[in-house]
Amino acid sequence: MSATLIDGKAIAADLRAKVAAAASRLARDHGLVPGLAVVLVGEDPASAVYVRNKGKATVEAGLASFEHKLAATTSQAELLALVSRLNADPAVHGILVQLPLPPQIDAQAVIEAIDPAKDVDGFHPVNAGRLSAGLPALVPCTPVGCVILAKTVRPQLAGCEAVVVGRSNIVGKPVAQLLLAENCTVTIAHSKTRDLPGVCWRADILVAAVGRPEMIRGDWIKPGAIVIDVGINRVEAGEGKTKLVGDVAFAEAAAVAGAITPVPGGVGPMTIACLLANTLKAASMQAGLPAPAV
Ligand code: GUN
Repeated sequence: MSATLIDGKAIAADLRAKVAAAASRLARDHGLVPGLAVVLVGEDPASAVYVRNKGKATVEAGLASFEHKLAATTSQAELLALVSRLNADPAVHGILVQLPLPPQIDAQAVIEAIDPAKDVDGFHPVNAGRLSAGLPALVPCTPVGCVILAKTVRPQLAGCEAVVVGRSNIVGKPVAQLLLAENCTVTIAHSKTRDLPGVCWRADILVAAVGRPEMIRGDWIKPGAIVIDVGINRVEAGEGKTKLVGDVAFAEAAAVAGAITPVPGGVGPMTIACLLANTLKAASMQAGLPAPAV
């Protein structure tokens, strides 16, 4: 392996410590404790783990955590009623409804019911639109984490060729917007892209967010590129065991890349750290205070 390993776990711990310090200043100077409400509908085990980890990290950073666990049979009207109560609750500055939602619930309707000022996921069309217009916004956490990680290797991204593989509203599109705001030349590739290996090979910064285990091979990567792997895929590891792999074939890619994020321990830990930073930002904005620099 010749690539530098980008230690998302350590970088996320540093960001969480900065959020905690800023939160304690907010409490001391303004009596304000940012509050994050996380809503989980149903018993999906992976979602339950994420929600538990979010709650733990929220409390550790000195923020208030409100967890709402609803039955898998919850109706859309019941969930919308809860969102409406959280929108009106002055102790709640950020609202996150864990996705995916059960099939009887229209996720987009729920996202659009969240007050954009409390939308710490940055999924509301108002925040998506503000991001694409270059206006201040609450920005989705995983994409922010990707850019922070890339900038630890190369603080000035201006002029870089960035290729984002994947066009979801949660990662692909917003990370492309953030890279554009950093003055990268951005290509968004997807399942219909012709010559995907050739397109990836152009990248100085390659962001893989397709959700297909180890799809991106080592010989798709330009020597020296920064590779940010958003994928978290559970695959068979033999003898009845499973393991987590990214969207990039790690060992092959690490032999040619300049820097690469591991899975696990790369982008994943950044998502929660950025969620805490967004909650701090949302609380400050709602109180008419400047967003703390973290
Ligand atoms: N499910 C997986 N990742 C996320 C996320 O970042 N936000 C929400 N709301 N649900 C998720």
